[in-house]
Amino acid sequence: MMKRKPIPYGRQHITDEDIQAVVQVLKSDYLTQGPTIAAFEGAFAKYIGCKYAVAVANGTAALHLCTLALNVQKGEKVITSPITFAASANCVRYCGGEVVFADIDTDTYLLDIENVRALLEAAPKGIYKGIIPVDFAGRAVDLEEFRKLADEYGLWMIEDACHAPGGFFTDSKGQQQNCGNGKFADLAIFSFHPVKHIAAGEGGMVTTNNKALYQRLLTLRTHGITKNEVDYQNPIALAYGDYTKDQQLKTSNQYPIWYMEMQELGYNYRLTDIQAALGLSQLERAEQGILKRRSIAEKYESAFKEADFVKGQSGVVNGHAYHLYVLEVEDRSGLYQYLRERSIYAQIHYIPVHLMPYYQQFGWKQGDFLYAENYYTNCLSLPMYPSLPEEEQGFVIETIRNFYS
Ligand SMILES: Cc1ncc(COP(=O)(O)O)c(C=O)c1O
Repeated sequence: MMKRKPIPYGRQHITDEDIQAVVQVLKSDYLTQGPTIAAFEGAFAKYIGCKYAVAVANGTAALHLCTLALNVQKGEKVITSPITFAASANCVRYCGGEVVFADIDTDTYLLDIENVRALLEAAPKGIYKGIIPVDFAGRAVDLEEFRKLADEYGLWMIEDACHAPGGFFTDSKGQQQNCGNGKFADLAIFSFHPVKHIAAGEGGMVTTNNKALYQRLLTLRTHGITKNEVDYQNPIALAYGDYTKDQQLKTSNQYPIWYMEMQELGYNYRLTDIQAALGLSQLERAEQGILKRRSIAEKYESAFKEADFVKGQSGVVNGHAYHLYVLEVEDRSGLYQYLRERSIYAQIHYIPVHLMPYYQQFGWKQGDFLYAENYYTNCLSLPMYPSLPEEEQGFVIETIRNFYS
């Protein structure tokens, strides 16, 4: 058998323009905390259709900043899906909160709102503090429905939109609602890991329409330090280093230019200008990338339409961003191995988070979420990225057909 070049499930696409954009920053005065960050944040907010965007070191840092900004406290309960990357749940644990999982919908593989409702109805009001729905694989959650439920119980919402920049759902008025647009969730987060739509090496973004949360995120991203004079807590004399009563009289009525205050415990979760330049350059092609992803998805759909060995995410998926192309297949482990032997590196998304040994210590166990666990037994993510050559996608389809014939 001829050995082919490996075909991964996802990969970045770097152009000469991307390289030039990075080189330009490398030749500039700012490698970090420079103007490219604000340019990237502004362009991203425009693309998503939200008011504010805060660039951060990665998607996990973005999630942590969200739980910090929402003041998640020890023991507070937050609901999320078991079919996601562990980071969606871990951000609650970073603040000492308690993660409560709810099972997925068998058609969409997204957090099932009815299961969330059942949890909320079964507990006294105030026990649960928030919900973290995930636009898994790039399929947008109906956040209008989730917002109604969250409002009924006074909960906040963080949308984990790592898989879905450019994705959308259609609301009850027929309007397109972009993932992360801040109209329903309080905060949304994105990742710029190389397999994602926009690659920056590492990187993340928080989006929101809430000014107070936005300002809190900015401070928490940089050690809890503020340079906003109106917020200063120390007296002006102390800011100059003048501590005695006499010296205070001599000081100015303005804070010194160098002054800043650390007012709460924050982190260094900044993105560099080098990464922002790559992200910004990639963002310019984001829409093109989505169209390509959708056309790849359509080819898979039509290839497996009649097949009885696969089941995909069903329903109208107009606004699907297709970070992943996920299927449920018969004999998943056999097919996975067969593909690997032919240089096709399909992937599994995800091992249910509640079955991770870390989460089992809190009492979660096999059998807790049958739909998520069944999905995991059968799921496979096929190669899906804008630079996937047609011939290679054809080879993937043919190899899968051969396996089942
Ligand atoms: C759904 C989801 N949430 C959060 C993250 C974390 O993002 P990052 O890898 O940038 O920290 C990922 C990344 O794989 C993800 O897929």
